[in-house]
Amino acid sequence: MSDQGSSHQRDGSFYQRDRDWHPPAFFPAYKTSVLRSPRQALLSLGNTLSEMTGPVFGHDMLGPLDNDLIRNYAKTGDPIGQRIIVSGRVLDEDARPLPGVLVEFWQANAGGRYRHKKESYLAAIDPNFGGCGRTITDAEGRYTFRTIKPGAYPWPNGVNDWRPAHIHFSLFGHAFAQRLITQMYFEGDPMIWQCPIVRSIPDDKAIERLVAALDRESCLPMDALAYKFDIVLRGRRSTLFENRKEGN
Ligand SMILES: [Fe+2]
Repeated sequence: MSDQGSSHQRDGSFYQRDRDWHPPAFFPAYKTSVLRSPRQALLSLGNTLSEMTGPVFGHDMLGPLDNDLIRNYAKTGDPIGQRIIVSGRVLDEDARPLPGVLVEFWQANAGGRYRHKKESYLAAIDPNFGGCGRTITDAEGRYTFRTIKPGAYPWPNGVNDWRPAHIHFSLFGHAFAQRLITQMYFEGDPMIWQCPIVRSIPDDKAIERLVAALDRESCLPMDALAYKFDIVLRGRRSTLFENRKEGN
């Protein structure tokens, strides 16, 4: 760690988001984006102190089954579907691992059905599957959880639009500026490339970053397939400076 440097290098502010990499707010093929997207040009503001320092949460709030979606809502037995393990690392833009990141995830069941009152899709609710959980990254920025592979589901957009199988992620890093909400898709799924929400992402390489690879080495015999999904949060501008001081 460095104890030197100008205030500019030590202020801990974050890199700006790359708006060409993230999907635009206005994307007519994704119908609800039309009404909720801004009508005026965005203003660029510097990071505020609370953005750079919050959030703070206790690590003792997690229960023992919070990262096990196969068991955390089970009542009469295990849920139906393909058992999978999802794991990966959370890094910043300078490839430094981020420990202590709260990772939350939610998803549909194996039939593509969410446990939600307003859900109108015909697929059945699984009484043994809730579809949400959370964990915290370890000292090397690693996370892992066990779940059921979600199914594709239809949604009211075009006449017959379907979402590819996906898991929603929310990440709280070391500051509010690192908050990220995203979705993970599954390698080899032909539904990915026809989805209007996926297609709102302008660069195919950015889409591929959301596709988890089948991780054969982590598959458990007679038990579960495994997928690997690494996630990059915004980095601090001071990080590169600190690395140079260490002679890296
Ligand atoms: Fe979803």
